[in-house]
Amino acid sequence: MSIDYKAEIERLKAKLPVTVVGHYYQRDEVFEMADITGDSLELARKCKADANPWVVFCGVGFMGQSVKVIAPQKRVLMPKIACCAMARMIDGSYFDESVEYMVKHGIAKENILPITYINSDASVKAKVGEMGGMVCTSSNAYKIIEKGLQSGKKILFVPDRCLGQNFAIQMGLKSCVIGQTIDGKACDPKEADVICFNGFCSVHQLFTLEDIEFYRHKYPGIKIAVHPECDPEIVGASDFAGSTSQLIKYINELDPEQKVAVGTEYNLVNRMRPNGNTYVLSSTKPECPTMNETTLEDLYKTLKSIEDNAPINEIFVDEHTVKYANLALERMLEVN
Ligand code: 13P
Ligand code: SF4
Repeated sequence: MSIDYKAEIERLKAKLPVTVVGHYYQRDEVFEMADITGDSLELARKCKADANPWVVFCGVGFMGQSVKVIAPQKRVLMPKIACCAMARMIDGSYFDESVEYMVKHGIAKENILPITYINSDASVKAKVGEMGGMVCTSSNAYKIIEKGLQSGKKILFVPDRCLGQNFAIQMGLKSCVIGQTIDGKACDPKEADVICFNGFCSVHQLFTLEDIEFYRHKYPGIKIAVHPECDPEIVGASDFAGSTSQLIKYINELDPEQKVAVGTEYNLVNRMRPNGNTYVLSSTKPECPTMNETTLEDLYKTLKSIEDNAPINEIFVDEHTVKYANLALERMLEVN
């Protein structure tokens, strides 16, 4: 006999002291089951404030880990411990190498203020926390960089070069990317305010200038709205850039007749303004493969494992990592 996953999920949610959390990029059928939804900043905040001892997080690994770091007393399970490809681009040793690069180029370690995008492993957040640094998300990066600059130190921004560069441009700051050369010149930390690690999101790399030209030509007057994980040239050619929640707000406030092409993950864009005036800014289907891994069946099995007293896919973070990653996350929440 086949299981009615939706009905079973509802039954288990009503019975167990559990909160189901879903990022905007989840598949629709999974997203609809979530008690808490939002962008990565909102999810971190709301999970911290939530009273249930169990969290089942439908998202990517760093998100579940962040809940465990902010609220270590909670039991955090993930229906799929799917990994964000960008977060996988940096680990503790790559972080140390980036600090070393700056030191070799004349910046003393005590004059470096690291900021890590929340899309990073807890071990990287811990290293950032130990050096007095902070976490940021795409919705508060401006404020966090501004706060970081008040220290008078150079900012080391990891792992997303696009986010680091986009906010540096917006703030009138100079930036460079470790490992990239421009006109034959390597990144010189002495000449830049924000020194970026060379990481990126492969999903947000899919949006091109040709896509923007195509839509502007096809629908004169159309607005282009993108996520700041897109390349700086894409953000520069757009009308608006913002985190997933900021994109939703921007689009909801447009005249319903206003056409808009959106450069971010497919599931989110597909869910917005179902009146036919919202387009995916790509000829491809820009799905985040790992966000899409979670199915209703996975969610059901994870909830059932709590009922059966045999929890699966639990997130554990060691004490040292929790201590320092928490410092970096709490510094972010304080700024907010
Ligand atoms: P948000 O902070 O906008 O939720 O973005 C998270 C993410 O992974 C975007 O690709
Ligand atoms: Fe990571 Fe990109 Fe997926 Fe966001 S869309 S979770 S940055 S791989």
